[in-house]
Amino acid sequence: MATNGDLNRKLRMALVGGGSGSFIGRVHATAAVLDNRATLVAGALSSNPERAKASAADYDIPEARAYTSYQEMLEKENALPEDQRIDFVSVATPNHMHFPVAKAALEAGFNVMCDKPMTLNLEEAEELKKVVEKSGAVFAVTHNYTGYPLIRQAREMILNGDLGEINAIRVQYIQGWLRTKLEDTDQKQAAWRSDPAKSGAAGAYGDIGTHAYNLGRYMTGLLPDKVSSHLATFVEGRKLDDYGTTIIRYENGALCTLTASQISHGRENDLAIEIDGTKAAIQWRQENPNEMIFRQNGEPHQIYTRNPDAPFMSPMGVAACRIPAGHPEGFFEAFANIYRAAFDAMVLRATGKDFEKKDTLYPNIHDGVEGMYFIQQCVDSSQKDGAWLPLKHEAARR
Ligand SMILES: NC(=O)c1ccc[n+]([C@@H]2O[C@H](COP(=O)([O-])OP(=O)(O)OC[C@H]3O[C@@H](n4cnc5c(N)ncnc54)[C@H](O)[C@@H]3O)[C@@H](O)[C@H]2O)c1
Repeated sequence: MATNGDLNRKLRMALVGGGSGSFIGRVHATAAVLDNRATLVAGALSSNPERAKASAADYDIPEARAYTSYQEMLEKENALPEDQRIDFVSVATPNHMHFPVAKAALEAGFNVMCDKPMTLNLEEAEELKKVVEKSGAVFAVTHNYTGYPLIRQAREMILNGDLGEINAIRVQYIQGWLRTKLEDTDQKQAAWRSDPAKSGAAGAYGDIGTHAYNLGRYMTGLLPDKVSSHLATFVEGRKLDDYGTTIIRYENGALCTLTASQISHGRENDLAIEIDGTKAAIQWRQENPNEMIFRQNGEPHQIYTRNPDAPFMSPMGVAACRIPAGHPEGFFEAFANIYRAAFDAMVLRATGKDFEKKDTLYPNIHDGVEGMYFIQQCVDSSQKDGAWLPLKHEAARR
């Protein structure tokens, strides 16, 4: 297995969540195998034991390794000989189960790929950080938008100074699917997302606001200083926010405006970011992810396309591409880029070598803690009529 170097075998994956009728588990399973570096061998796929077992066939997971709970899975996998046992656990459950599953998997010695928001609250996030550090395992958070080639390209251009000093970020994540009170129907995804016990203290802000915040932080490396937030619930009777606008001030004086919405008619998954620097500005939209606009006053606007053979592409942008220009790459490939970077670290760990834990290409435990801190402060600020509250940073993003 050339792509896993000295390890000379595929990494063995277990999936928690992803049962029939669910969304992101299937994306994890697809992204993880895209580069032929991993194979899905085990799973605890649903909170419902029968569905957990029945869903295994959809993934070609053998019956003996289709478990009825994550606890059973970890115990039985740990009892297997080392050359069969899983290497990592992907957590694709609703938010309230991220912490218990990730903690137990790390304590059992396995690497973890955890979906966002990382935990239910900041306390769990801080606790999980200690568990990760003690475990010595690889831990990644699937803020998958950071995996798009042109996002990596933009990040490298910004860190190289091509935009000059960064003054402003405008980021928005706009959806419309929760315009009606979908949680009162049997729509599962809406039901848990609007339940504070399963989603956490924020609705739209926890679900998609964290992605937007992480993207600005990842691309610019700017260190956050303060936040002022106004969250709103526009659908009557909903328990959590479905809209919000926030101002973030960074330590260098830069300002970010961040809007997240789940109630905008007709909007699908419009994550869009504009970054203004003293020398140039860039603009990118995830619904058209193979193009990025670069602007300078007095110059024609430039459209960067995702083109691994073009001289204008940076090494990081090229490394994130899989196929030649003009063939659209998208959500799965970007997701797979998070896996690819984490796999590099897992291979180093499995072959007894040291690996970077803080300044990683993939979003890590520190990004996860920052995200949970951001959610907490936005909710708190909003309850205090937009009072400015501190933000903290601990991920090495510059
Ligand atoms: N990174 C992204 O782009 C992205 C996109 C969508 C969702 N997410 C995140 O992924 C997670 C799942 O979201 P979804 O939309 O796929 O939810 P979903 O409701 O579609 O699926 C959740 C799955 O988890 C299972 N589950 C619940 N409790 C479990 C348990 N104790 N053990 C095993 N399985 C259990 C459910 O049975 C279901 O199969 C959430 O944290 C969400 O925020 C991330």
